[in-house]
Amino acid sequence: MQHADVDSEIDPLDLRRAFGRFGTGVTVITTRTFDGTRLGVTANSFNTVSLEPPIVLWSLASKSPNLEHYKSAGRFVVNVLALDQIELSSRFSRPSADKFAGVAYSDGVAGLPVLEGCTASIECVVINNHVVGDHVLFLGRVEKYTYQDMAPLLFCNGKYIEATVISPPAAPASPVSASAVAARAAC
Ligand SMILES: Cc1cc2nc3c(=O)[nH]c(=O)nc-3n(C[C@H](O)[C@H](O)[C@H](O)COP(=O)(O)O)c2cc1C
Repeated sequence: MQHADVDSEIDPLDLRRAFGRFGTGVTVITTRTFDGTRLGVTANSFNTVSLEPPIVLWSLASKSPNLEHYKSAGRFVVNVLALDQIELSSRFSRPSADKFAGVAYSDGVAGLPVLEGCTASIECVVINNHVVGDHVLFLGRVEKYTYQDMAPLLFCNGKYIEATVISPPAAPASPVSASAVAARAAC
């Protein structure tokens, strides 16, 4: 078992292995600059924050050559990748002159690219960004979204994985839960 604590030096590369145990979905965060250039980056830092109001977050490495574009665009789209979209994840995680060449997308709010074939698309306006350590955290308010029932692409321990649905073990019956069920049924 690996461990590090406050008394020992934390090795970022090893810490990354610990962080990697947290399985996530995979997204491509897209935006569009003022001159119309489309940008996209593979990100698994996406997470949900609030339902009312609807707010999400993601973070971009401060060293990204496109950081200033993401900040000034003021909007982003979270494209949640489906299981059959590993190629898009790879494509948008490598620098390239035109990451969108041959990629199917439509124009969303303010002309931002919404990738086709995703399991969800969440269109957001940036409400804040903060430098946090070696990343910039973007908080966005959801303006529009769509979703469809498709198997999601997942990422854990540095590998792409496929979800398997499992059922939690049945909870032991207790007098409290039995009476709660009876009370609900009586309503
Ligand atoms: C599954 C996966 C998740 C990633 N998540 C993030 C992330 O949340 N934030 C980030 O800055 N980079 C993340 N990356 C790395 C970027 O996709 C990669 O550095 C990309 O080249 C950055 O694009 P840019 O060079 O246009 O900034 C991730 C890569 C992969 C494969």
